[in-house]
Amino acid sequence: MPLVIAIDGPAASGKGTLARRLAVHFGLPHLDTGLLYRAVALLMLDAGIDLGDANEAARTASSLVADQLADPRLRERAMGEAASRVSGIPDVRAALLSWQRRFASDEAGAVLDGRDIGTVICPDARVKLFITASPEERARRRHRELTGRGEETTLAAILSDIRARDERDSSRSAAPLKAAEDAVIIDTTELDADEAFAAARHVVERAR
Ligand code: C5P
Repeated sequence: MPLVIAIDGPAASGKGTLARRLAVHFGLPHLDTGLLYRAVALLMLDAGIDLGDANEAARTASSLVADQLADPRLRERAMGEAASRVSGIPDVRAALLSWQRRFASDEAGAVLDGRDIGTVICPDARVKLFITASPEERARRRHRELTGRGEETTLAAILSDIRARDERDSSRSAAPLKAAEDAVIIDTTELDADEAFAAARHVVERAR
């Protein structure tokens, strides 16, 4: 039986780092699904298209190719905001659904991280994790990460972004951010990356 690990959680909860480490540890392919939404937003912005144009957003999402997920600009702070805007468009989510399901159907299994992996994309995943942390701690982590990459931002601006994104991602009607009923919740506020990884690895090993 393929080992599908679904990891969800809010922005900067540490789910991406955790997903990468679990994928290496268990020898599985990994998809950061946030990149798909970021890529749709970036392609639209590059083409001068308004992010609120639902038809164009859906068209962009359905023609997305894997190469477009490698652009370093996808990781910029503004792109997280832009992605959050297009991700509320139901046709965008529908267009990206088959992409993600195809990725998850690898015969060995796969690790996917995002907002709706355990609830919508892979409801039958063997392991579901919901990774969370306080908004303040998430803002500190994201601030360290962005300043480490040379992006100029303030902690206050990031905290306000994170709160706005939590609100938008949790309150939208299309696949809102929420833990699946059968997800194991890991709060990483007080955990470092190694401790979070150990906790998650333990959950996966029990489910294998
Ligand atoms: O995880 P990341 O910060 O890269 O995600 C950017 C935005 O993309 C999120 O704020 C969310 O609105 C959207 N997203 C989503 N569903 C996913 C992954 C990301 O709606 N599975």
